[in-house]
Amino acid sequence: MRIVVPPGALVMLVGPAGSGKTTFARRHFRETEVVSSDRCRALVSDDESDMSVSGRAFQLFFEILRHRLELGRVAVADSTAVTARARAELRSLARRCGAPVVAVAFDVPLEVCLARDTVRARRVGREVIERQVELMRQALERIPAEGYDAWYVLDERAQEEAEVEVRRSPRRQAASSPAVREVARNTGGEVHGMTIRKVGVVGCGLMGSGIAETCARQGYEVVVREVNDELLERGLRRVQQSMARAVERGKLPPEERDAAWVRIRGTVRMDDLRDCDLVIEAAVERMDVKKEIWRELDRICPERTLFCSNTSSLSITEQASVTRRGDRFCGLHFFNPVPVMKLVELVRGLQTSEETLDTCRRFAESLGKTVVVAKDYPGFIVNLLLVPFLLDAVRALEKGLATKEDIDTAVRLGLNHPMGPFELLDFVGIDTTYYIAEAMFQEFKDPRYAPPVLLKQMTLAGHHGRKTGRGFYEYRQ
Ligand code: CAA
Ligand code: NAD
Repeated sequence: MRIVVPPGALVMLVGPAGSGKTTFARRHFRETEVVSSDRCRALVSDDESDMSVSGRAFQLFFEILRHRLELGRVAVADSTAVTARARAELRSLARRCGAPVVAVAFDVPLEVCLARDTVRARRVGREVIERQVELMRQALERIPAEGYDAWYVLDERAQEEAEVEVRRSPRRQAASSPAVREVARNTGGEVHGMTIRKVGVVGCGLMGSGIAETCARQGYEVVVREVNDELLERGLRRVQQSMARAVERGKLPPEERDAAWVRIRGTVRMDDLRDCDLVIEAAVERMDVKKEIWRELDRICPERTLFCSNTSSLSITEQASVTRRGDRFCGLHFFNPVPVMKLVELVRGLQTSEETLDTCRRFAESLGKTVVVAKDYPGFIVNLLLVPFLLDAVRALEKGLATKEDIDTAVRLGLNHPMGPFELLDFVGIDTTYYIAEAMFQEFKDPRYAPPVLLKQMTLAGHHGRKTGRGFYEYRQ
């Protein structure tokens, strides 16, 4: 079996004491790459009776791993990691550092583990190993669904025969990838002196995850911020699934996927966006939330950083008004799914400078998008036309004109749209569409934009479409 370790990855060795992890790590990795929980324990104290040893050893173990990953180096976590919680903590650590995670599970019978334990200086003992073997059985069932970049299961024989390919030097590899060369051409020095290298993305929902993926695939360094670890992990998993789909369809070479993944760093701290050249906000469609984000970022980011909102309908000029950089602020409206949809609407706020528009246009083009320019007018071009259409479909359903299935079929086959309006509402998000309609209605006071009661009720009930598993239709999560 060939185990491929992408550049800068965390390799998590999962297996009971005595299952062969340490021998395997010594055989295939450099000494400096292996971080052993046992060694951390010994470093912290020899006193087995000291109850604080475990906590301190664990802290040290994590700190060393974090340090290596932040430097973009491979780190091999040699610890039993048989509990789901230990694996979740290690995954979360890797996500925060933007590191890919590879799990290697050691599936070895209890008797073998016990036999190996008897020759160790510091024996773990039968009771503990029995429990670990039981937990390992559960781990083997769960690992495939836990969201690793790759995972491998090694029985005793596979342990002997496995070959490990560690891909090193992420920087050198990234710099030579065609995507990076393309970006260097597109965003190079001639753009009025403004070169974009590092992109911040606020929000890792449907749009933020797609924007982060698209930027990383084109060679930009990306830092994406979510409000908590759980949402961050979910968003980054969406990035992985989307790239896996592209690899499966032969659209993305696996090594470019690995290089792109290494360029994405997840965080829950707004501060981590401080050295970005450009920040794209893709948080919920609410003016109060967006203004709060911009106020904070305006304090954190240097003057040169450009701010772009991915808003579907909210005023760019109003968002810019809470910052001191109205001239370096514009709308960059991507479409869902971001890696697939070719259009970006570039929205000029009242104060947006030509230089900012020029840089952002070239940036969007470097992502392979076609750019159209729109005034700062609610809904810009596409949503001004799309939203009344979607709302009319909901009103037609409320009136009992036809079933949702028939309305969808009529639009798909009668207009050749790829999705019917209810399929599209579920795809975009019922909550997002409700907020967009509400914003447009507040601006125009035209009943065409008033959100139908059903849309409001579904938003309140959490029936937000595909992303929550239920909208007009039901979806398997
Ligand atoms: N993420 C990434 N890629 C995806 C994807 C996703 N969620 N869903 C599908 N894809 C990719 C597939 O990998 C495939 O790529 P390749 O052609 O390169 O192989 C391609 O999209 C087509 O996918 P499928 O063949 O599986 O499915 P499909 O033919 O049904 O297409 C679709 C899927 C592209 C989503 C298509 O149904 C579609 O175009 N739907 C309408 C989307 C739309 O209207 N978006 C705009 C919404 S409005 C908006 O975004 C603005 C706003 O402010 C609300
Ligand atoms: P979503 O609900 O899928 O994701 C929004 C994410 O933003 C959530 O995960 C939320 O936790 C996060 N968030 C909220 N406050 C935050 C903060 N302060 N910092 C960091 N993250 C924060 O929504 P979405 O569909 O991705 O939409 C995001 C934006 O993009 C909205 O402005 C929407 O109008 C716009 N947009 C949506 C679509 C679409 O089809 N869904 C298309 C184009 C534009």
